[in-house]
Amino acid sequence: MYVLNTWYVAAWSNEVDRKPVKRVICEQPLVLFRTQNGTPVALADRCAHRAFPLSEGRTIGDSIECGYHGFTYGEDGMCTKVPAQSTIPERAKVRKYPLVEKDGWIWAWMGDAELANPADVPDTHWMTDPEWATVTHSFHFKCRAGLIHDNLLDLTHESFLHKTTVGDDYIYEHGITVEVEGSVVSVDRLMPSVEAPPLYADTMDARGLFDRFHCTEFFVPNLHVLHSGITGEGKPRAEGYLIKVLNGITPIDERNSWYYYAFSRNFAVDDAQATEDLRVGLNTVLQEDADALEAQEIGMQSRPAGEFDVLIAQDGGVAKARRILSTLIKREQASDTARPVAGARA
Ligand code: FES
Ligand SMILES: [Fe+2]
Repeated sequence: MYVLNTWYVAAWSNEVDRKPVKRVICEQPLVLFRTQNGTPVALADRCAHRAFPLSEGRTIGDSIECGYHGFTYGEDGMCTKVPAQSTIPERAKVRKYPLVEKDGWIWAWMGDAELANPADVPDTHWMTDPEWATVTHSFHFKCRAGLIHDNLLDLTHESFLHKTTVGDDYIYEHGITVEVEGSVVSVDRLMPSVEAPPLYADTMDARGLFDRFHCTEFFVPNLHVLHSGITGEGKPRAEGYLIKVLNGITPIDERNSWYYYAFSRNFAVDDAQATEDLRVGLNTVLQEDADALEAQEIGMQSRPAGEFDVLIAQDGGVAKARRILSTLIKREQASDTARPVAGARA
C-alpha cells in the first residue's frame, strides 16, 4: 500500500545519463534516461511488445530502443518504430512518468499524471547552496519505508544505536514537541547545556557545553528534513552550527526501500578533511540504521497477527505520521473507486 500521488526521489541527477537506468518505485519498474539536450525521462520499464525491460536497451537520439525486437519509443512513451513491419499497433506505447529535477535529485510522480504539480516538491536548496557543504550517500534498506519513517521520527534510538557517533543518553532524557501542519509532521527536541555529539565535535571544533537541537520535519510520505545543530547556551538556533539532513525515502516494495541521503552543514564549508571525516562517519551511522532496520523487518515478519507496537510518549510523531499516511492512502483509494471506468456507461 503506497501513496502514489506524490513525488518520490527516483535518482541522483548524476546517476542518470544517456545510458538507461532501472529503478523500481512502489513496485513499478521505471527506466530513466536523458534526451540529447539533457532532459531526464522516465518511462515504464516494460516493453509493450512482450514486456522485456527497456532498461536493457539503448537510447537512440531522444528515443529508447528495446533490446529484444527493437520497438522504439519516444520520450512521450509512444512507439515510433517497429522494425519488423511498417505499421505501428495502436497499443504500442508505454507509460510516461512526470519528473522534476531539482538540487541534485530527480523526483518521479507515481500516481495520476494530471495531478502532478512540480511546486509540491519540498525545499531542498541546501544541497546546492554554496553557503553550505554537502555529503551524500545512497542506501538500499532491506525494510519497508514505514520503518525508516519511524526511525527518523524517534531519534531516541541515537542513544543506543549510534553511541559512538551521534548518540548520548541525554537524548532520550529530553522530551519532544510534536506539531502537524497539513501532511507535515514536526518532532522537535531541545537539549540544553550538553556536549556536542562526538561525530560533529571535531568538525565543529566545539568544546564545552552547548544547546543541542534536532527537529525532524516529515513531509509525508516521501521526505524527512532534519534541522539539527548546536548553538551557544541560551542562544538562538540560527546563530549556531547548523545541519540540514535530507532523507528521501522511496519505497521499492513492501520489504525494500531506497534511501537518498544528503547532509548539509553551514560550518567548515571549505574544509575537505571535515567533509571526508563526515562522509566516513555518516556512512557508519547509516549502516547502523540499515542493519537495525533489516533486523527489525525480519522481526516484523515473524510477529504473530494481533501483536502490535507498544508506542510511548516519544512516539508522538510516529503515531501522528502513521495516521496521516493511512488517511492519504485511504483517500487515494476512495478517489480511485469513485473514478468512472473507461468505457463504462454513465
Ligand atoms: S519485447 Fe520489446 S521489442 Fe519485443
Ligand atoms: Fe539512526
